[in-house]
Amino acid sequence: MAGLQHSLSLKKNLDQRARERFTSSMRAWVLTDLAGQMHADYEAARTAANQNHDSGEAVHQFLKERGLFKWYSSLRCATQELVWQSVLRAIENDPQSLNKHQSESPVKASGSLTLDSTISLPAYAREMDVHLMPGNYQGGEDHDTAAGIIYDNGLDVFSFGVMGQNLDDIGHSMANFTRLKWSNLNPDLIVDVGCTIGHNTLPWKQAFPSAEVHGLDVATSCLEYGHARAEALGVAIHFRQAGCDALPYEDKSVDVVFSSMFLHELPTSMIKAFFAEAHRVLKPGGILINMELPPNDAISAYDAFYLDWDGFYNNEPFYKEFRDLSYQRLCTDAGFKADDFFQATMPRFTYVSETEFAETAIADASFDGDTGRLSDTITWYAFGAQKSLSV
Ligand SMILES: C[S@@+](CC[C@H](N)C(=O)[O-])C[C@H]1O[C@@H](n2cnc3c(N)ncnc32)[C@H](O)[C@@H]1O
Repeated sequence: MAGLQHSLSLKKNLDQRARERFTSSMRAWVLTDLAGQMHADYEAARTAANQNHDSGEAVHQFLKERGLFKWYSSLRCATQELVWQSVLRAIENDPQSLNKHQSESPVKASGSLTLDSTISLPAYAREMDVHLMPGNYQGGEDHDTAAGIIYDNGLDVFSFGVMGQNLDDIGHSMANFTRLKWSNLNPDLIVDVGCTIGHNTLPWKQAFPSAEVHGLDVATSCLEYGHARAEALGVAIHFRQAGCDALPYEDKSVDVVFSSMFLHELPTSMIKAFFAEAHRVLKPGGILINMELPPNDAISAYDAFYLDWDGFYNNEPFYKEFRDLSYQRLCTDAGFKADDFFQATMPRFTYVSETEFAETAIADASFDGDTGRLSDTITWYAFGAQKSLSV
């Protein structure tokens, strides 16, 4: 846990801090030590049974009845629930925090918030508590303004200190990768689609100070909180309520369309609609870049099983469907040229030197057990395409 570094953070007493630290440490143990034991148990059992598995599904079927897999899965589910419970307890103890971002938010930058009451969370996202988050991105009945607060505080506990000081390393990594790879880009307008509360939107303004940076999402409560958070951190971001299938921009008017941890929460038809919109609004030479989990066909059967776990046990219904797709095909179906597709793997920008980051990020993508796997050795994966200059 890094602890939130802005003035909207919840007031927490010692008990609450202890509960959060326990949950974070437990998650770190489950996702590193216990996960390592489960992998070793798998290799030993597979060798003893003289079996080879060529897909994540086959590994999953083989492991399902093994004690270590059950132990790992139960603890991951339990700690996932504890993440949200620990935050809800803190909100109950500090009920004023529910309105703090609406009433007291300090305005330090010149960003904006534009809501559209005709837009709401699509049914696929409303109908269940995605990754077991109570009330989803819209907030529950008791906490209808709280989704942003729950997400911000929950992610801090969930990520056990591996996502950067402001939970923004993905944004720093993707923005700086873009800056280094396309050094002549000079963007005027950068749009982060499905930004939630803007954790990974702010770094784009920091990497490209002269660009206008927009954060788009469908969830009112997240956008309101995200706007207050960005102002409190002194970074000018323009938050807008909009769906990814109807981007509110003219044709050929945007330099970068970015998303992070977004596509795996969408049905395939929505991803396709988003990519078609991205292709429409991008200027020739503009960049579509998505930080995501790596595709199943690039990694080992065991790693595919490991990353798809959430699709079976963590209310992530589109996870596996998405990771089974050809990411290049998603881009070409939307109008990008096959030669303009890219994918990259990179260390966390805020944890290494820029030289080390650049060397790895700009080289060809390379995949191993750390790619996209939450731990303190995680490497990020990104894919997308540059829009052809001749379109
Ligand atoms: C996992 S979160 C994205 C996390 C965020 N990009 C980050 O880096 O912190 C998924 C977000 O997608 C939003 N969302 C779901 N469907 C959407 C759609 N059709 N258009 C725009 N946003 C959508 C949800 O409201 C939610 O905030």
